[in-house]
Amino acid sequence: MTKATRGSLLSIEPLGAAEILGLLSIARRMNPLKARPLLRGRRVLLLFYEPSTRTRSSFEIAAQSLGAMTTLVLSSGSSIEKGESLLDTGYTLRAVGADVLVIRHPHAGAPLLMAKHLDIPVINAGDGMHEHPSQALLDAYTILQHKKTLKGLQVAIVGDIYHSRVARSAIHLLSKFGARITLCGPPELVPELAANLASGLQITRTAEEAVHGADVVTVLRVQKERLAGMKISLQDYIARYQITIARLKLAKRDAILMHPGPIIRGLELTSEVADCPQSAIVEEVRNGVPVRMAILAKALGKAG
Ligand code: CP
Repeated sequence: MTKATRGSLLSIEPLGAAEILGLLSIARRMNPLKARPLLRGRRVLLLFYEPSTRTRSSFEIAAQSLGAMTTLVLSSGSSIEKGESLLDTGYTLRAVGADVLVIRHPHAGAPLLMAKHLDIPVINAGDGMHEHPSQALLDAYTILQHKKTLKGLQVAIVGDIYHSRVARSAIHLLSKFGARITLCGPPELVPELAANLASGLQITRTAEEAVHGADVVTVLRVQKERLAGMKISLQDYIARYQITIARLKLAKRDAILMHPGPIIRGLELTSEVADCPQSAIVEEVRNGVPVRMAILAKALGKAG
């Protein structure tokens, strides 16, 4: 972390295992209903250039639970629509008193650019196809509520991995702890080069092989519009890759089913899978609050 980006959370890739475990440990001490007002008087600016439900609401609730003031700026309805640049928007939000900036942007590197030019911590809430670090942290937090360790865990990630910043952050995080990861999907969504993301990654083109014996099955959203431009039809995708109860049964009996959301029932997974006892989807959303409380408290030097 350079001086210019100190306190920022821009990606999982450069973090050490100790730093990740440290954040998870802070998160375990966070209770949104009984939080100390560690951030009283601090201003958290949420700048979202893309739609969000989970990330946006949980960062806002996390900040407010810690006593901070929050302001939400969306690209629609703000001066971004009038053509204001990313950096000028950042300078403006700093000038009105932001102490920390949480940003989601369609372009990879937008949070890093802000962090290099602003003298406040910047938190990446998802940038293009690059990373979504807070999602990877809350997913690790969720897995560790069910499993003793990440080391040696067999994790299947099924769906659109190529376009997924969630997948990239998850792969970086899980690899640091010795998880065994299998990626699964059609070549357009899981190209062979995905194996370069980390050592020991496996790629398979059959959902059955990916899920067989898995401890964790992570399903990623698949956009119908993307399938429209590919060789595989929607019906073929569903037939070959949709996670169904029959396929989930191939995983270990105590496997958990994860999805970062938003879920598209009937496409990448069935409704029965989304709502089954093994599904940790709602837990993931819930865990977003303490994990993001930890991220904000650490960014502002109040994590103890
Ligand atoms: N997982 C996730 O980032 O969801 P949102 O797009 O709703 O924030």
